Order: sequence, then C-alpha cells, then structure tokens
Amino acid sequence: MMANGFSVENCRAVITGASSGLGAEFARQLAPQAELLVLVARRGEALESVKTELSANKARILCCVADLATDGGRAAVCSFLSANGVNPNLLINNAGLGDYGSFASSSADKTRTQIELNVTALTMLTHALLPRMEAPAGIVNVSSLASTLPMPDLAVYAASKAYVTSFSEALSIELAPKRITVSCVCPGPTPTNFSKSAKRADGTDTNREGQGLLRIPPEQVVHEALSALQHGRPCVFPGFGVSIAGRLFRMVPRRMLRWLLKRRAAKE
Ligand SMILES: NC(=O)c1ccc[n+]([C@@H]2O[C@H](COP(=O)([O-])OP(=O)(O)OC[C@H]3O[C@@H](n4cnc5c(N)ncnc54)[C@H](OP(=O)(O)O)[C@@H]3O)[C@@H](O)[C@H]2O)c1
Repeated sequence: MMANGFSVENCRAVITGASSGLGAEFARQLAPQAELLVLVARRGEALESVKTELSANKARILCCVADLATDGGRAAVCSFLSANGVNPNLLINNAGLGDYGSFASSSADKTRTQIELNVTALTMLTHALLPRMEAPAGIVNVSSLASTLPMPDLAVYAASKAYVTSFSEALSIELAPKRITVSCVCPGPTPTNFSKSAKRADGTDTNREGQGLLRIPPEQVVHEALSALQHGRPCVFPGFGVSIAGRLFRMVPRRMLRWLLKRRAAKE
C-alpha cells in the first residue's frame, strides 16, 4: 500500500497551524498512531488544549509557539526541534490565512502576512527541515481548490495557493528518488476558523455563492490527505464535488474561466 514505504505509523510529525481547524484535525487523526507530534501555531493556550484533548493517545505531544509569518518565528521552530532532539519524518505545512475582499482595498500588512505565511513559511520550513528528514518521509502541503482559479476578491490567497500546488507537484518529482513523498491537498470550503480570519473588519466580503454545495468536514479532508500521502499521490481534491470541480477548473481554457469569473463578479 505504501508507495515509498512511508507510513504514519510511529511517525514524528511537525504540524503547522495545529491550534484549530484542519491542523488540529491532523493532530487528532495522527495521535493514535504517531510516536511524536510537534504542534506549531501562535496561540499557546489553544495548542495546549489540543494537546490535553489528545493526551490519552500513543503520541508524545510537544507545543511550539511561533509566528510563522516572521523569520524569527520560523527560526524558533528549528531551534525548538534541535533543543528537543526532534528529527521529523513528516512535515504538515498547514498554517494559512485568507483575506476576503478586493486587492486595492486590502490592508498592506495582511497581504504581506498572507504571502509570508502561505508561501514563505511553507517553502522555508520545508527547506530547513528537509536535511533533518530521514527517508522514508512525507510532506503534506495544504493548498486549496482556490489554487486552480484566478479568484477576484481573493486574488492574493488564490495566487498563494497556486504557488503551493505548483511547488508541491515539482517537489514530489524531485524528492521521489530520495523516498520522500510530497502530497498536496486542495480542500474546498471546510468549516473551520478560516472564514472568520479571512473576513474584514469593515464587513466587506467575497462572493462565496455556491460554496454550500462543495462543503465537506475537516475529518474527511484530513483523512483523504493522509491517505493520498501514504499512497504516493501528489495532489488530492477531497470530496466528490471538490474533486470534480478541481478537475473541471484545471481543464477549462483560461479565457473561459476569466469570462465566468467576471460574470460572477458582476453579479455582486
Ligand atoms: N477552511 C477552508 O475552507 C479551507 C479551504 C481550503 C484551504 N484551506 C487551508 O487550510 C489550512 C488550514 O486552515 P483552516 O481552514 O484550518 O483555518 P483555521 O482554523 O483558521 O486555522 C489556521 C491555523 O493557522 C494558524 N496560523 C495563522 N497564522 C499563523 C502564523 N502567523 N503563525 C503560525 N500559525 C498561524 C492558526 O493558529 P494561530 O492563530 O494560533 O496562530 C491556525 O491554527 C490553510 O492553509 C487554509 O488556507 C482552508
């Protein structure tokens, strides 16, 4: 079953964004099988409550408080792993942030933070941890269905996730001979804290019409992501509707896609 011999059984995993949503769910599904989980996020209390919830499981759990949108925070994760003698064989790059609304009216700080977190942290953490990862090993990068679309009013987020998907697919080829499997998961709308963080304080919002049809629970997203990783699949769109949408969006000519997105934007 295992494409490169990697199994989550007895794995030593670093999970970013593990204080809520999909990251906490990765921790829940790995805890009964893993040897060690390192949970990373900014909110220490939320990390500790995930740790407490999972304390009856097999995995030893460590919490690492760090702001991954900064160089200092990313360096702190590496120092934490060194100080605790952790050589992970699974990295789950899950932390991410969206911003609902037009690019022109976006806050420059939030835009920069999105790029730092969704793109730079994912890339540089992978770069920093790869030399420590003993094969067989795995990397899960959390992208989005949005990675397949040039989305107005979610432009930076969608572009950042297009980067994640492209980077992951390239890396899956580069690292295969080293027996490191890279899987990219592209969820559609999933009920987590994501929308709350992406909403703007002024109440402006992106058109999210049609999302209800594609919504699937975090449990299913994570289950399909871990299954894809262990079967050596480079990219997965969890859920029936999302997998059809992902295929369609990747096949439709860009010109037609832009026309459809323009019509959708005009409705608002
Ligand atoms: N939910 C969806 O509809 C959806 C769809 C497609 C893709 N995704 C992707 O799924 C991933 C997980 O998001 P989610 O849906 O689970 O949302 P979430 O519940 O808001 O979780 C985001 C996680 O990222 C962490 N985080 C945010 N900023 C951070 C920073 N500067 N440094 C370190 N950690 C940070 C948060 O923890 P702290 O606040 O404690 O730092 C939290 O644990 C993201 O990459 C998102 O883009 C979500």
